[in-house]
Amino acid sequence: MSAAPSPKNDDARDEATPAASSLPSGGTWSGRFAEPMSARMQRFNASIDFDRRLAEVDIAASLAHARMLAHTNIISADDLRAIESGLAQIRTEIERGEFQFARELEDIHFNIERRLITLAGDAGKRLHTARSRNDQVATDLRLWLRGAIDALIGELVALRRALIDLAEKHADTIMPGFTHLQVAQPVTFGHHLMAYDAMFARDVERLVDCRHRVNRLPLGSAALAGTSYPIDREHVARELGFEKLCENSIDAVSDRDFAIEFEAGASLVMIHLSRFAEELVLWSNPRFSFVALADRFCTGSSIMPQKKNPDVPELVRGKAARVVGDLVALLLLMKGQPLAYNKDNQEDKEPLFDTVDTLADSLAIITDLVGTGLTVNRERMRAAAREGYATATDLADYLVRKGMPFRDAHDAVAKAVRHAESKGCDLADLPLCDLAHFAPLVADDVLTVLTLEGSVASRDHVGGTAPAQVRSAIAAARRTIAEK
Ligand code: ARG
Repeated sequence: MSAAPSPKNDDARDEATPAASSLPSGGTWSGRFAEPMSARMQRFNASIDFDRRLAEVDIAASLAHARMLAHTNIISADDLRAIESGLAQIRTEIERGEFQFARELEDIHFNIERRLITLAGDAGKRLHTARSRNDQVATDLRLWLRGAIDALIGELVALRRALIDLAEKHADTIMPGFTHLQVAQPVTFGHHLMAYDAMFARDVERLVDCRHRVNRLPLGSAALAGTSYPIDREHVARELGFEKLCENSIDAVSDRDFAIEFEAGASLVMIHLSRFAEELVLWSNPRFSFVALADRFCTGSSIMPQKKNPDVPELVRGKAARVVGDLVALLLLMKGQPLAYNKDNQEDKEPLFDTVDTLADSLAIITDLVGTGLTVNRERMRAAAREGYATATDLADYLVRKGMPFRDAHDAVAKAVRHAESKGCDLADLPLCDLAHFAPLVADDVLTVLTLEGSVASRDHVGGTAPAQVRSAIAAARRTIAEK
């Protein structure tokens, strides 16, 4: 068993490693420095263990930068060719898992640059002209996040499709709607599912909107003040598909509001997923038995042989906490940083990566569950809707239509419910004469009003739970997906 490194072990390793001599200045950070970094400092300072995920976008951004440098005659065409073929080789090495990432080279930018210099010599050394790691990392992060947003939008749309398909099957299925988790009024299960679709549709809108502010180019800002070379930032923006330039160099290298905004949108996705997950936990409980989750989404207990636990929804509910934590981490990371770039910002990556991974996994597994892993128990839903006097409001509305003021109708029905409760039956089961005792206006036609079907069918307006409205909401939702 390998033990975690003790502080003592750490001390033992806290010396310059031989590998440090692969640094540009033979072990020190640069010629400016008289002593090398300790191993501890290297470990503390390095981001390569996590920012290697930026390799692909770092190469894409370097290619665009190099092409602009050649286009503006800042470097020669020969240099560009050497840079292009060096970067192509590096890309292949990374794809094949052959690239040697070195912690003493700190981050992905230095790792790739050093390898390029080995492969392309002086041309490689010219790549960093008119650029700093500050605008480089901001560019990489935006490119990477843009790709992640596109993938997540795809995942959200897949979930929407699964929800809409299930809602269509259950446009007529009646369940109790709840407020305060007490039976309130009958609704259709399709309508309930479409409530989640509405949330996820807004989540997509938020990501689409956020993407515009992510999709702006920092390169050209250099360290913070811009650069003295005659660069062409539009050229780089076009090549990388950025919609706009970041227009203030100091802002471009220092703010991460685009990532925070994404985190906020991602947190809302997780909150929505978490509410749905919570309902799946409740609904799959035998006391409800509204749904059964396929075994492959559940686990058993190590001690209680009878248990089948709804782990997937519980984990999704739990993972919402991680993502909200990531949002808070990025907010606090920015707070109090003086302009412009500070190394604090290296800490932006892990929360961001964690959020994207968590969201992608949670969306995929819930989509699978909704699409293939839910058995809906219509009878149990219907029985539950019959139990809680769910049509009491319908009775009050009926009396109002017969001319009674709503407040009086509310009072009369409340008394009728109390009476039914004392007899242990539903409103619909009370003899008409009993009902008439509380509300003299009732006639035979009240029975249609008290049925569950009558209740849901009567809520027949945009946004209502009537099956016809649910079907048109489904059609409208499918149109919004098709337009994308
Ligand atoms: N690894 C650094 C980051 O993630 C790159 C930028 C470093 N810039 C600097 N001036 N030290 O932010």
